[in-house]
Amino acid sequence: MPIPFREVISHPDLPARFPDAEMIERYLGAGSPAGELIYLGLGETWTQVAPGLVSALAGPLPSHSHGYIVSQYGLPRLQRTLRSYIASSHRLPSGLEAGRDFEVAVTSGGTRNAMFDFARLLQSEPSLGLIAESGVTPVLISTLPGWSYESVVDALGYRSRYLPLWQDNGYQPSTKEFDELLDSVIADPGQKPAIIAINAQHNPTGVNWRPDTVRHMIRRALEAGAAVLIDDAYYGVHDPGVTPTSALRILLEELQGAPPEAHRRWLAVRSLGKQFHCSGWGIGAATAHPDTLDALVNTVLLTRSFATAVPLQEAMADWLEDPAAERYREEKNQEFAAKRAEVSELVRTRLGYPPDAIHVGDCTAFLCVRLPFPAHRGGEHLAEFLEECLNKTGVLMGVDRTIADRSGEGAHEPICFRIYLGPPQEVLTEAVTRLATAGYTYRL
Ligand SMILES: Cc1ncc(COP(=O)(O)O)c(C=O)c1O
Repeated sequence: MPIPFREVISHPDLPARFPDAEMIERYLGAGSPAGELIYLGLGETWTQVAPGLVSALAGPLPSHSHGYIVSQYGLPRLQRTLRSYIASSHRLPSGLEAGRDFEVAVTSGGTRNAMFDFARLLQSEPSLGLIAESGVTPVLISTLPGWSYESVVDALGYRSRYLPLWQDNGYQPSTKEFDELLDSVIADPGQKPAIIAINAQHNPTGVNWRPDTVRHMIRRALEAGAAVLIDDAYYGVHDPGVTPTSALRILLEELQGAPPEAHRRWLAVRSLGKQFHCSGWGIGAATAHPDTLDALVNTVLLTRSFATAVPLQEAMADWLEDPAAERYREEKNQEFAAKRAEVSELVRTRLGYPPDAIHVGDCTAFLCVRLPFPAHRGGEHLAEFLEECLNKTGVLMGVDRTIADRSGEGAHEPICFRIYLGPPQEVLTEAVTRLATAGYTYRL
């Protein structure tokens, strides 16, 4: 199915701060010289939405779903469905009670907004104990490579510090390096550990973090008085047979022995966009201590929005209650596993990548392969390389921010391509074939 890029990428008259958009516009404007665009730079297909979800949206929907919802927790029916969906899919301990130990709200507008609201709440609610004194900067710790949490919280005055992930450790976080980083923040009088982000089904490496590592990070975060932000965007996207590490379960277990303030200082978000290929819906779940969630939705969220996208919430409630939803997720996970294997094989055989330059994970929708040139040729060179490759092949790759060497934190030089495995296998095969034909092999 051809993708109507012009329908999803902003018009050239409008400013676009997304470099890919400009490259795509130039490529389409030139008449797609190397064939139909294959865009692997963003985790989106625009073609794979769950059909049952689309049927649910086609209705009939109850007329009330077109009006305001007088609950900041989202459509009551979806909120109740998500409460049990989160508890069962994250394998929460049976002794825990929704409404007492945790509560769940619908997020509409993307989980990014819930993260932003949480970061705002930590800065405004004295009882959470994280309002930074003047001259002290709250710090968010996340990983490199990793999703850009800094783009959500930096505008609120946070500073981001990064835990590097290394290939020789299978891109698992090192607890030793985590401790060193956290201790250095604690030891700095100008900084305060404020948020530890845990993305246990890790974008972009596709690594399912080990439960004992996640437990260690959470335990240390709680001891250090930091808030825990669990980002489970890819929790539902994993190879068959893989048990996704439930960071939420581990957190709730660890809270049993934690100081009382810690019980209210966490948020877990789960986008439903990735597992059902409906990221444009912006629907997901936010789980937190009941008091924290109350403050988040009834105070912070209310300053800018009532519950929105209610027809989408109706359709999502129908879909989640239908056994077809779980079947769809399992089928897609089988497809992702097959594509992970097939594409890594093609990259090895047709593009000549050595096995150690390909990192095959077992969750998320991505495959990482090392750039075939040194990281110091990054920056503008890399943008030029991507555009040249696009012009010659019609394939636009993604790159990921990675620490280039062990010399220092914060070197954002990319060293990996991130290949999005969402498109059908024929499209991915076509992309590799075009790269091979144009000479974009490992030894350029
Ligand atoms: C790791 C990670 N976290 C969070 C998000 C935000 O997801 P959504 O906008 O679907 O809520 C994404 C989206 O790409 C992601 O990859």
